[in-house]
Amino acid sequence: MESVTSATAPLSPAALAEAVAVETRLLLDPATGFGELFQSVHRLHTLFVAITGLHARDEMRAVFRSETRLPCGRAISMKHAAHCLLEFQRTAVFLRGIYQALTTLQQRFPGQTLDIVYAGCGPYATLMTPLLPLLRDLPLRLTLIDIHPQALAMAASIQTAMGFPAPELCAVDAATYRHPAGRTLHLVITETMRRALEGETQVAVTAHLVRQLHPDGILVPEAIELKTFHKWHRYTEEDVAPAQMQVPLAWRLRVDRTFLTALDDEALQNDADYAVPCGVIHLPAVGLQRHSLAVQTHITTFADHQLRDGECSLNEVVKLGARHFEEVGNDLATLLYVTGRPGLHIAGLKRPRV
Ligand SMILES: C[S@@+](CC[C@H](N)C(=O)[O-])C[C@H]1O[C@@H](n2cnc3c(N)ncnc32)[C@H](O)[C@@H]1O
Repeated sequence: MESVTSATAPLSPAALAEAVAVETRLLLDPATGFGELFQSVHRLHTLFVAITGLHARDEMRAVFRSETRLPCGRAISMKHAAHCLLEFQRTAVFLRGIYQALTTLQQRFPGQTLDIVYAGCGPYATLMTPLLPLLRDLPLRLTLIDIHPQALAMAASIQTAMGFPAPELCAVDAATYRHPAGRTLHLVITETMRRALEGETQVAVTAHLVRQLHPDGILVPEAIELKTFHKWHRYTEEDVAPAQMQVPLAWRLRVDRTFLTALDDEALQNDADYAVPCGVIHLPAVGLQRHSLAVQTHITTFADHQLRDGECSLNEVVKLGARHFEEVGNDLATLLYVTGRPGLHIAGLKRPRV
């Protein structure tokens, strides 16, 4: 669909901003169908590739394909970060949430310049760049953070090519970033996560940044909820399905501002693995012989903008059967690793994280 060596002549800043705005309006509209969302993120991708030269699928240069290990988890490669744009439902629901968050902040802080920190922006700053042409009347100051300096330079190049001022750029681990003293932090945006919070740095980053956020400021995503259900499997043709094939379990973990603020600040700053107990999953008496334990990841970006099962890779449901466990009791203790190798640990699981 696109090529790295696009032969298209560069657009003027005004034309580029308008071309981006056309796509953003489509992405923000809840009536836009999946097919149109898909086409729209690909058109944005073509525009961004023409400026940055980084193609989310075809990029082969090693420097853009390597991830970085941080004390709080994995920062994925620039190529993979670019690819997030193409997860059309993810991109749309985040943009809708952020757009509404900014409108809300405008009402909460009338006349103030809104200070936005976008942690883990990747090479396109996908969760802010498309909104800029629609936010011309909103006074805002944008700080982009990414551990990969080339990603920051590329994200800034797209924004300046549209005629917007260069954002502030910080090539640091976002879990150590300090917002300048005396400046109110109104909005924190980050999507540095995988399903079941495995591997990446989301919890450590948000736990650190939320402490610097104004009490009336907004964190996007507002909440990430891990939930579980018990799912029956048919093994033979003769098996008769139970009335309820999927039974929701009581265990759940809500990672929101309240949860993040309660984490131990000192432990967050310490490079050693930091894990917090998150309760016990009680399995129904039949255990996992004919069932699996499913772990869901539901995301509320802001207000009622939500991503549910299967809507993007972040919502992939993880299914665990007896073969995934050394031993399965009916009460499975859980631990959420916030730093080190992040993710959810369930007692008895063969692999270290869900
Ligand atoms: C999943 S990608 C998301 C890219 C883009 N924000 C989006 O939503 O499309 C995460 C990005 O955050 C960066 N990153 C992850 N953890 C980080 C950290 N602790 N500090 C700085 N950058 C980080 C990665 O390098 C990568 O560019």
